[in-house]
Amino acid sequence: MKLVFATNNKHKLEEVKTIISNDFEILNLKDINCFDDIPETQDTIEGNASQKAFYIYENYKMNCFADDTGLEIDVLNGEPGVYSARYAGEGCSFDDNIEKVLKKLSGVSNRKAQFKTVISLVINGKEYQFKGIIEGTLLKERRGTSGFGYDPVFLPKGYDKTFAELSSEEKNKISHRGTASRKLAEFLKNR
Ligand code: IMP
Repeated sequence: MKLVFATNNKHKLEEVKTIISNDFEILNLKDINCFDDIPETQDTIEGNASQKAFYIYENYKMNCFADDTGLEIDVLNGEPGVYSARYAGEGCSFDDNIEKVLKKLSGVSNRKAQFKTVISLVINGKEYQFKGIIEGTLLKERRGTSGFGYDPVFLPKGYDKTFAELSSEEKNKISHRGTASRKLAEFLKNR
């Protein structure tokens, strides 16, 4: 079965392809000639994943899955959440976002946070969602150089290395996206 992954992120695509059964041919947005600015206007991670998957299903008539991820900080009532990519403003860098988080948490002792990924799968008009969560704490300073986004300040619970100090294999084993992707793969395997 052909299945569109609503992304152009090569890294995400390769990661998902390694865990989803070969019975599925995974296509990206370019493969289906989709160059649209897919709307992500919902105020929840679940809502955005759903909106993206249904957009492709309805406009391109293809079964599809889409993901959305956010960092949720306890003392900020779940901020930045859906705004994780553009927390410090439109066009900001990963570093700008980290700087904003560090400023907001300056002097704050409760530094608990979690990453949440939701994958929404739409097959023949029916939706299934898969969630992955990793809890941790936010450090006061950056540590490590691998990964992206908030990785240098995120210390997963039970680990002494930040996401940016772990190898990508180590991170994938425990990460929000890894967990959600494995749930999706398991669902597809059993279909
Ligand atoms: P997206 O929904 O996967 O595009 O993620 C939205 C934003 O969340 C990204 O731009 C990053 O700032 C942040 N983010 C998502 N996944 C990760 C991760 O694994 N590590 C660090 N930051 C992440």
